[in-house]
Amino acid sequence: MAQIGYSKKVMEHFMNPRNVGVIENPDGYGKVGNPVCGDLMEIFIKVKDDRIDDIKFRTFGCGSAIAVSSMVTEMAKGKTLDEAMKITRKDVADELEGLPPQKMHCSNLGADALHVAIKDYWVKIGKIKPEEAKAEGEEGEACGTE
Ligand code: FES
Repeated sequence: MAQIGYSKKVMEHFMNPRNVGVIENPDGYGKVGNPVCGDLMEIFIKVKDDRIDDIKFRTFGCGSAIAVSSMVTEMAKGKTLDEAMKITRKDVADELEGLPPQKMHCSNLGADALHVAIKDYWVKIGKIKPEEAKAEGEEGEACGTE
């Protein structure tokens, strides 16, 4: 199969994504969408001792978004919430050994949904206020930009 500039790791996570699914009654839930391409990402987390004990994702997104979400869930699992908040879209893309330039924006959804899920949990436990829990929209890039 032609790989069209995708790294082996991207293809591997796309073909065999980790942590796909839904967690019933999650401690934190994040959903982010992109108004341009319509792709949607959901992340569910369970928290134990301030760490991400379990994490699952569901996406209606492109192949890169699937690989990114799979990778971001692997990176976040077992980390403390503060550590997981520091995972950036670049970290995810780096772990995947890069994405083609026109697909770099797809790595936004995974990190953003993770951060929203963590903030959702922090709102529930009263650590932050609801208005502080908005998606950050790192760099404001949209799917469909070149
Ligand atoms: Fe929208 Fe990849 S996430 S095209």
